[in-house]
Amino acid sequence: MNRKYRKTLIAGNWKMNKTPSQTKEFMTQLKAIMPKGRWCDIALCVPAVCIPAAVRAMRETRVGIGAENCNANPSGAYTGEIAADMLVDAGCKYVIIGHSERRAMGETDADVNAKVLAALNEGLIPIVCCGETLEQRDADVTAEHIAMQIKLALQGVSEEKIRKVVIAYEPIWAIGTGRTATPEQAEEVCEHIRTVVRKLYSSKHARAITILYGGSMNEKNAYDLLAQPDIDGGLIGGASLVPEKFVQIIEAANQPVM
Ligand code: PGA
Repeated sequence: MNRKYRKTLIAGNWKMNKTPSQTKEFMTQLKAIMPKGRWCDIALCVPAVCIPAAVRAMRETRVGIGAENCNANPSGAYTGEIAADMLVDAGCKYVIIGHSERRAMGETDADVNAKVLAALNEGLIPIVCCGETLEQRDADVTAEHIAMQIKLALQGVSEEKIRKVVIAYEPIWAIGTGRTATPEQAEEVCEHIRTVVRKLYSSKHARAITILYGGSMNEKNAYDLLAQPDIDGGLIGGASLVPEKFVQIIEAANQPVM
């Protein structure tokens, strides 16, 4: 990370875990052990039905609540879907877009792009996910694949709006597998993402954008991952479900400003 130029963000992704009651319980426990320092931004992206409980519990705190998906359309006949302005009205600040688990359910790069534009239009901070499969890594096409995902996801995003975007690099082979990318592997791709942003926008925009690493990040490996110059935070699945672990990752982000 490089706190001189950009924000550090520790974001939890609960996926399909916890009920609203369990959310309330988690937030009470988290508040009791939350570090006082303000060295990073903190987000918790929770299942849609847990958003009201999470927002209520964290109202007086610095933890921003997020959703795990949104629909690209402003409203209409999309049974079961949730629009970006509904998330804003419910108190959300963030929304994860294009997570590999959603892409595996059929979400395309075009869908991801439309959702990013919809989120930005409503003032949400999109956490845009990209990442390669093991096959792609082994075939040495990681850089091309990531560049393509980022370019497609950011189509039509203005220079003004790119300032609000967070990118998360999540190698699919590292998600939920306990197999973390090494700090060097993660840094290499995050640096590459910054280069892609530089080419699409400018050096200034590239320097300012927050790029997260995700994939089996935990309280043990967080410090070394976050010590890398281009890794500005984490998108944390499993370890964000336990308040103590999540707090230890927040503490791992308390590193000297270079
Ligand atoms: P994990 O999930 O930390 O459980 O690997 C990360 C993610 O999918 O965002």
